[in-house]
Amino acid sequence: MKNLNIALAKGRVADQAIQLLMDCGCQFDDYSKDSRKLIFSDKKNNIKVTLVKSPDVPVYVEKGAADAGIVGKDILLEEKADVYELVNLNIGKCHMCVAGFADKKPDYSKKITVATKYPNITKDHFHKLGVLTDIIKLNGSVELAPLIGLSDIIVDIVESGKTLEENGLVVHEKFLPISARLISNKVSLKTKNEEIQWVIRSLASLADQEGS
Ligand code: PRP
Repeated sequence: MKNLNIALAKGRVADQAIQLLMDCGCQFDDYSKDSRKLIFSDKKNNIKVTLVKSPDVPVYVEKGAADAGIVGKDILLEEKADVYELVNLNIGKCHMCVAGFADKKPDYSKKITVATKYPNITKDHFHKLGVLTDIIKLNGSVELAPLIGLSDIIVDIVESGKTLEENGLVVHEKFLPISARLISNKVSLKTKNEEIQWVIRSLASLADQEGS
């Protein structure tokens, strides 16, 4: 009996992450993609999965409310939580991109306005390029910002590119590959080492297949 609590990012990664855990031998009989339930228990291995908003996954794990978590590298870079990053799961693959209108690439020698859910990543990126920015933090539907004149460009994750395309925007620059990671609480890795090592081994072998 493992008695592990794993926080998963709701949304695009949750379904694949639950599937990976099931491939490791967990059984979540009451899980369905469309369910509104937030906690799922696997009776066989005693693993409890909680579905939380993606930026909250590192918070739950850092504070010890969850022993481990599965969340995108985008969130880990943005939130800078004090957790261990253990395995690249090779799911939820996408890229952090600068995007905007095809015919209106901003002049980087002038100050530009950037809308994003990722102000820290955006700040680091443009700082490295030596570009001055005004960063506007939004919580979603970032593609709207250039359309309504709130920003010159956006920085966001792009997976299929459909959201950009359907809103008349294009990728200007793809600068960071993103995928989901297994993370753990620092104390849990010591106190529940055997259990977490089992999750690491099981998920790592599946992740290799996903990556190949
Ligand atoms: C993400 C991201 C883009 C979209 C990209 O948003 O912020 O809007 O997905 O995916 P695509 O390239 O496959 O179209 P999400 O769906 O998480 O919703 P949000 O805008 O409400 O944050």
